[in-house]
Amino acid sequence: MERNLTGPVLLSSLNQEPPFDCSIRARIFSATSFPLFTTMLIRTRHDWELPESATTPERDYVLRPSPTSPRREFLKTLGYGVAGLAGAALSTRDLLATTAGFPTKINPDYRDPALVATSYDLVSSYNNFYEFGTAKSDPKPNANQGWKTDPWAVEITGLINNPFKIEANDLVTKMGGAEQRVYRFRCVEAWSMVIPWDGFPLAKLIKLADPKPEAKFVTFTTFHDPKSAPGQRRNNLDWPYLEALRLDEANHDLSFIATGIYGKPIPHQNGAPLRLVVPWKYGFKYGKSIVKINFVAQQPINTWQAMQAREYGFYANVNPNVDHPRWSQASERVIGGGGILGARQKTPMFNGYEQQVAGLYRGMDLTKFY
Ligand code: MTE
Repeated sequence: MERNLTGPVLLSSLNQEPPFDCSIRARIFSATSFPLFTTMLIRTRHDWELPESATTPERDYVLRPSPTSPRREFLKTLGYGVAGLAGAALSTRDLLATTAGFPTKINPDYRDPALVATSYDLVSSYNNFYEFGTAKSDPKPNANQGWKTDPWAVEITGLINNPFKIEANDLVTKMGGAEQRVYRFRCVEAWSMVIPWDGFPLAKLIKLADPKPEAKFVTFTTFHDPKSAPGQRRNNLDWPYLEALRLDEANHDLSFIATGIYGKPIPHQNGAPLRLVVPWKYGFKYGKSIVKINFVAQQPINTWQAMQAREYGFYANVNPNVDHPRWSQASERVIGGGGILGARQKTPMFNGYEQQVAGLYRGMDLTKFY
């Protein structure tokens, strides 16, 4: 279905910075498709204008493993007692998702001391999850009104020798538990965060599935439950949300299934209980709340590509040299980075993971395969 692309505040020139909220893409919907839309356009305070106090100061949260007990130090910096991760720091609003695998083990290979993590509060309150609304502040309240993510079934299917359906906690256990990795996160809307993810490498799951030689791509399908998800009761995207990777991308060591952030079960609004994480790609590739992982032969069309292929491609690799048709991708606003507009920094090729992933795209024209 063709969407209205001439919204009231569509950006016209490349060098314009995208607006500081999710309405960049909400604006491509018709003004009547979501009741909050009007509010988003006239409000005076932006989502990003969170108080500086919402940011975890570097002195309290420095991503360096302690030689004695990295986990203990890490939890202490977050204000958790060493004994009690479970529940103690969860607010009453946070409903539990997958709890298997906690406490997680820090993976020192993915813990760059130069990266300062965005505060938990910001990571869990500044979200894109259109199933629960199009404003950044919508998913937190809307995804925590009785939507249940535990127990949660996920189906592994398609061109594989070992198809199975499994409960999310059992899957984590089968994967040998969870580890923590700290990755950069870059949204196509030109903002960024640094997030400590807990979960397991996607390659482990693929090994268990045992793909047939014909399998070349893997799709990730989000839940579909219009009763729980107000966004799905409206026609603002083609539901359910679908994302996909080439099989070699999915098998890359960086590709990860997150079941937690900050050493805690992943909040609903961040995609509980299972969510894809591919740090060299734009955030829209990170399919949330996955119910089906399907191995297929042909390159599928992902949700945002179906919506507007000229703006959102299949690959979605972070690339400062290939602009979005309506804004530059050369730099990004650091969420929680300080200052009234947030700190700005240059965007590195493949979001800083060039050394690890450039080989996947050798010989490809990245202006064509964006
Ligand atoms: N997954 C689903 N199912 N629905 C969505 O709307 N938004 C995507 C991605 N995954 C989205 C999704 C986009 S655009 C981004 S930037 C990230 O999730 C945001 O993840 P976060 O809210 O945890 O920061």
